[in-house]
Amino acid sequence: MITTQDIIENLRTRDIENTGNGPLYRRLQSALKAVIDDGVLQVDDALPSERDLANELGISRVTVRNAMRALVEEGVLVQRHGAGTFVAPRVEQALSRLTSFTEDMITRGMDPGAIWLEKTVGHASPEEAMALNLSPGTEVTRLRRLRTANDKPMALEYAVIPRAFLPSPDEVDKSLYDALAKYNKKPERALQRLRAELFDGETAKILGVPDGSAALYIERRSFLANGTPVEFTRSYYRGDSYDFIAEMQVDAR
Ligand code: GLP
Repeated sequence: MITTQDIIENLRTRDIENTGNGPLYRRLQSALKAVIDDGVLQVDDALPSERDLANELGISRVTVRNAMRALVEEGVLVQRHGAGTFVAPRVEQALSRLTSFTEDMITRGMDPGAIWLEKTVGHASPEEAMALNLSPGTEVTRLRRLRTANDKPMALEYAVIPRAFLPSPDEVDKSLYDALAKYNKKPERALQRLRAELFDGETAKILGVPDGSAALYIERRSFLANGTPVEFTRSYYRGDSYDFIAEMQVDAR
């Protein structure tokens, strides 16, 4: 179990007063984030009190408060009333199971939500036609949603579905996969491509993270049992909230 003194010592080695630029609270924010990213502080560990951090590091309580508040807004820390400030849980997602966002969040005891940003029906762009194996210009249904868990923004998703499988975006209430299931078109297999990106101005704002924060870009093409593509979704997950877990086994030869 990590002690307050260990955390303070670790922060001291980062010498926030003489390292980096920008306001002091931003530098403390980055240092605290680094302590978490380096695994010194782990999920559910308590942070030292605002007063202890301020006294021990020789900085003002306002600076500490601003840094903590920014990390709460980023979703890195959670404040529990009367108990203190803790490292927030990360959502772990297994790579091998094909699940929906709604299922993933419910499994983790969180309340999934979606805020609609766009619902349209239109003609497939060349990129969409290629991803969905459609002739150019075929009609598609498009959904752009901010996905939330316990009201906290988690990911921005842009899904494109052949209109033949989903006649209108209004068919979707909370879950796209539930809507597809009603038409017996729930995907059975998917291919995912992941890469690291940075959030730019607009996406950062929608997700409530600082400009230039880490993002995990995921592209999913999913298929019906007979191999017909049913979904082409581009998602930007908050890099600080999502862990993808891949189970691996040694070749049994
Ligand atoms: C995940 C996938 C998306 C998929 C979505 C469906 O987030 N990355 O490709 O469209 O789940 O989730 P739901 O059924 O909750 O809308």
